[in-house]
Amino acid sequence: MKVSIIGQGYVGLTISAFAARHYEVVGFDLNSTIVSQLNMGISHIEGVASEDIKRAILEGKYRATIDGSEIAGSEIVVIAVPTPLDEKRKPDLFFIDSACKVIAENLTGPALIINESTSFPGTIRNYIKPVIEKYSKQNIEHEYAISPERVDPGREDFNQENTPRLYAGLTPEATARTREFYSSFCDNLVEVSSPEVAEAAKLFENTFRQVNIALVNELAQISHALGIDVRETLDAAGTKPYGFMKFAPSAGVGGHCIPVDPSYLADVAEKAGVEATFIKRANEVNLGMPKYIAGRIENDNGGSLKGKKVLVVGVAYKPNVADVRETAAELVIQHLRNQGAVVSWHDEIVGSWKGESSTPLQGADITVVVTKHDSVDEKKILASAPYVFDTTGKVQGATGL
Ligand SMILES: NC(=O)c1ccc[n+]([C@@H]2O[C@H](COP(=O)([O-])OP(=O)(O)OC[C@H]3O[C@@H](n4cnc5c(N)ncnc54)[C@H](O)[C@@H]3O)[C@@H](O)[C@H]2O)c1
Repeated sequence: MKVSIIGQGYVGLTISAFAARHYEVVGFDLNSTIVSQLNMGISHIEGVASEDIKRAILEGKYRATIDGSEIAGSEIVVIAVPTPLDEKRKPDLFFIDSACKVIAENLTGPALIINESTSFPGTIRNYIKPVIEKYSKQNIEHEYAISPERVDPGREDFNQENTPRLYAGLTPEATARTREFYSSFCDNLVEVSSPEVAEAAKLFENTFRQVNIALVNELAQISHALGIDVRETLDAAGTKPYGFMKFAPSAGVGGHCIPVDPSYLADVAEKAGVEATFIKRANEVNLGMPKYIAGRIENDNGGSLKGKKVLVVGVAYKPNVADVRETAAELVIQHLRNQGAVVSWHDEIVGSWKGESSTPLQGADITVVVTKHDSVDEKKILASAPYVFDTTGKVQGATGL
């Protein structure tokens, strides 16, 4: 069976690697650099081994392409493209739209089209299906389904095989074919009654995290004002064996999911006449953390950061990955610079970012830890400046959240 995966990023390449164990996979992406690297057997995604890509290429099971016509003849097409927010923090389906165009213009026969990109309830029924039909020159009846991706890049205990996967089709036929497709490489499939339930569940999973992270970030501010240690408080609450789930304070939320997905739910809620108050407040609290942190650092350093050499440690949005999408480090750096600090950053996993490069972990007046990779030595962090503010709770002896 020929399967085409539209988008060869975190989600698309991960799914391609697993699907290529069973099917002939065409990985379509608009980015020619990524495509040529993939065709040389080089993976750009943590968690997808280059060896797996090389093996699949040698076995004739995988090839990457920027040529849309290569998806012709696919029985299954999986959409795994970005679903960001626009400048007003509203859903931006530009990439979904362009993926639909490629599919509509190049499929030569009926296929099952599965969306793995995260989007609001109704996307597959009211957006993807009509858009593909609009762009199609031929009158081909495709099947449609949703199976939202839950991959957590960098995580080793949960992968495509053992992470429960939600799915639902627009028709019983689409549902059955979706089950058959994923059952070849996923052991835990969970069928739900409609695509909208699967789409809403995915958004709610990340909204749950976003709101709870905001809640502990607010608690961090309350605790500091009251002179109570927030992490000890959370550890204490965490001893309750039921009804409590521990989240940790941080500089904010990052990545492609937690800061973005809840706003997809808020938008669709608003259109249905319901105000998503928790999501709005959680966004405000999380986006406010960098300013709060910069304020704390300023207060602790004589009320001014003018001319101070500040080193931000860790600009990836989470430990042990190079992903800087929506990283809280960006706002932290912005606020520190606005306050007159001379800011550089250290993150050897990221290496270079926004035209700047990682600098050595030494010689600062102030060090601010935003993300702590396992490879970064705690003692070196403490030795890098006379004042260290740690937002992660991983640097013993530092000031922080
Ligand atoms: N990264 C995660 O951890 C994660 C987890 C679960 C769900 N998701 C969701 O999965 C979707 C994809 O996210 P990602 O992290 O893989 O994004 P990504 O940015 O890593 O990769 C997306 C790829 O799609 C390509 N692309 C964009 N438009 C295209 C088009 N029209 N045709 C072909 N390729 C196109 C881009 O060049 C890019 O390589 C998003 O909706 C995201 O919310 C991501």
